[in-house]
Amino acid sequence: MLRVGVLVSGGGTNLQAILDAIDSGKIRNARVEVVISNNAGAYALERARNHKIEALCISPKSYENRDLFNQALLDTIDRYHLDLIVLAGFLVTIPAAMIQKYQNRIINIHPSLIPSFCGVGYYGLKVHEGALARGVKVTGATVHFVDEGVDSGPILLQKAVEVQPGDTPKILQQRVMEQAEWVILPKAIDMLANGEIPLG
Ligand code: GAR
Repeated sequence: MLRVGVLVSGGGTNLQAILDAIDSGKIRNARVEVVISNNAGAYALERARNHKIEALCISPKSYENRDLFNQALLDTIDRYHLDLIVLAGFLVTIPAAMIQKYQNRIINIHPSLIPSFCGVGYYGLKVHEGALARGVKVTGATVHFVDEGVDSGPILLQKAVEVQPGDTPKILQQRVMEQAEWVILPKAIDMLANGEIPLG
């Protein structure tokens, strides 16, 4: 059984897609051991608790400096002996020590077709604002391994989504989630858990 930890900052719809896929058997041989948020008010923590999964908040605000926060995050993750860490809308920079220790064991979902609309400053709704401002006709989502850069690690899965006339950033965000994110994130976890993509 693959031991999975999910890191979240917000609503947690991607977390929900993972939990639903485990329940329905779409993800085989994986278990979510812990959900961690930097934000105590994240609804994602509620979703975890509803599923009887341990839900923790580790907030930078509770630590004197960034190094102490980074150490607390890493210590907590180590305690769960995780095989895979999933960033599902986690809007905190992952400490370098954690990336080194868990090389090719951390994946991230990004709401565009990397290398478009990614990197510093592109997160959440800003990604879709960028896509609409540029006038692209196709966007999508990407699952990738996390390396030292921002959205620069090896790509595992991508799925395209059409932009429709009249789209607002919010409408486009919802379509990208429904048609791409909630599909390819569970799929990537299933593939990693079953040897179809090699883990680090
Ligand atoms: C998702 O759209 C995810 O792709 C994005 O944040 C949202 C979280 O929603 N992540 C990034 O932009 C990372 N750069 P959720 O909390 O409902 O899953």
